[in-house]
Amino acid sequence: MERSEDLRSHRWFGPDDLRSFGHRSRLKGMGFADEDYLGKPVIGILNTWSDLNTCHSHLRERAEEVKRGVWQAGGFPVEVPVMSLGEMLMKPTTMLYRNLLSMETEETIRCHPLDGVVLMGGCDKTTPALLMGAISANIPAIFLPCGPMLIARWGKETLGSGSDAWKYWAERCAGNLDDESWTQIENSIARSPGHCMTMGTASTMGAIAETLGMTLPGASSIPAVLSEHARMATSVGRRIVEMAWQDLKPSDILTAASFDNAITASMAIGGSTNAIVHVIAMAGRAGIKVDPERFDELSRRTPVIANVRPSGKSYLMEDFYNAGGLKALLWQLRDRLHPDCATVTGKTLGENIAGSEVIDEDVILPLDKALSEEGGTFVLKGNLAPNGCVVKPAAADNRLMRHTGPAVVFENYPDLKARLNRDDLDVTPDSVLVLKNAGPLGGPGFPEWGMLPIPNKLLQQGVRDMVRISDARMSGTSYGMCILHVSPESHVGGPLAFVQDGDLIELDVPARRLQLQVSEEELERRRANWTPPEIHYPRGYGQLFSQHVTQAHEGCDFDFLHHGGDTPEPAIH
Ligand code: FES
Repeated sequence: MERSEDLRSHRWFGPDDLRSFGHRSRLKGMGFADEDYLGKPVIGILNTWSDLNTCHSHLRERAEEVKRGVWQAGGFPVEVPVMSLGEMLMKPTTMLYRNLLSMETEETIRCHPLDGVVLMGGCDKTTPALLMGAISANIPAIFLPCGPMLIARWGKETLGSGSDAWKYWAERCAGNLDDESWTQIENSIARSPGHCMTMGTASTMGAIAETLGMTLPGASSIPAVLSEHARMATSVGRRIVEMAWQDLKPSDILTAASFDNAITASMAIGGSTNAIVHVIAMAGRAGIKVDPERFDELSRRTPVIANVRPSGKSYLMEDFYNAGGLKALLWQLRDRLHPDCATVTGKTLGENIAGSEVIDEDVILPLDKALSEEGGTFVLKGNLAPNGCVVKPAAADNRLMRHTGPAVVFENYPDLKARLNRDDLDVTPDSVLVLKNAGPLGGPGFPEWGMLPIPNKLLQQGVRDMVRISDARMSGTSYGMCILHVSPESHVGGPLAFVQDGDLIELDVPARRLQLQVSEEELERRRANWTPPEIHYPRGYGQLFSQHVTQAHEGCDFDFLHHGGDTPEPAIH
């Protein structure tokens, strides 16, 4: 657009009427003159900074750096706080609130005089939530990833967020790690602002946002505290002003092909299993149907080439950045991508990544030296998961790829905590641990309980992986043969609800199969005797969640937030 009268914010500030008088006078009350904002794109900086979100502790500074860019480009920046979903301090799970932040993002954009937005986040659910809201609001938007924290060290060891916490906790439970060492690890594992620096959910969702074309090129790999990150924030401020004039909206960028690109990138980095749920939900907001099966299809033709924990052995996100970052990885993958997809730069994805060099081939591997020939996440089906379930074999023990064993069943998480380490628990390394009532409704909120702990008595025997099945998610930093997202979940009467101790469960990862070896007649008998559990929430947001959340294979968005029919813009008074 060429005229300031065409800016969305003009409807608030332009008219000579009483309502616009009010809008203008109150900006003046904050010290802004007409020259500061009239006729300029108003840029909302949606900031998820919070003292309760450790990963975003630098975002107040970054907001100032974005503002600098907005001013430079002739825009008017306004910083707006939105809910922060800090993974470490929220109970029962941030996933319960992903849709709430997405709604807040959408409505914050819709009701305010904004011509473009910068979305600041990065800790796991903030990325999909902000993007889902911005996709639904559909005004120009750039995502600014908060960036990973620096590599942590414990003596000569490097420590990766989450992954090494689980690893050393298992050693402590096995009696191999003393209290002092454990405290030293606690003191050093979170070394700086920024999100988890393994290839967990945060890193994965940042990579997905970038591959979708919703960030500046290279943005997702830059560690949070580097000067490059601050400079990138200022560039974002400059670019969003241009986008506002160009009216370049998410609907101009996101297509089925760009979601295929994002899934392919997620597979190549050995990304978090959580990506499936979030990508399906984001695509749903854009009116694009993505099924879990699409992940499996793309997984089969995408090698894992990011040698970063938990799929890789040695490296972390700072190494990934120094090795060339996501741009270099995407350039390696270019033959598997749709290069013509649009991005926030106004150029195509192919143009953005052209010629990006891999600096360290031990971190970003050549295609013929991939960690595994197939991508990081498989989708399995069978009579135990008619609508699918997921597993991340790249981060699991190879000997468990085909396994049949007797179920050891926990009815819910409190049951698991109470009985897992009892001496009389009838469990062996060949057992299949099963956790029920941990899905979207059962958890509630689809918590990250899917990496069921290995019983201490098996840890002490040296066992470090076994087959575990649940309708829960797991942290992207987790690992092991954990079968997740079983759908439909047990809480709504999915077959998982009817598994009993001793039932044989057959897992065949290469064949993508998960079978409960119990006859249909017996399952019918158990189903007939089954009493559905009660809904967790009698009132409030929890009840809204319970009434409208969809199942894992549908993305767990609220049914009323799916694309279809535009919400009207606010009336002009
Ligand atoms: Fe924020 Fe891991 S706790 S990304």
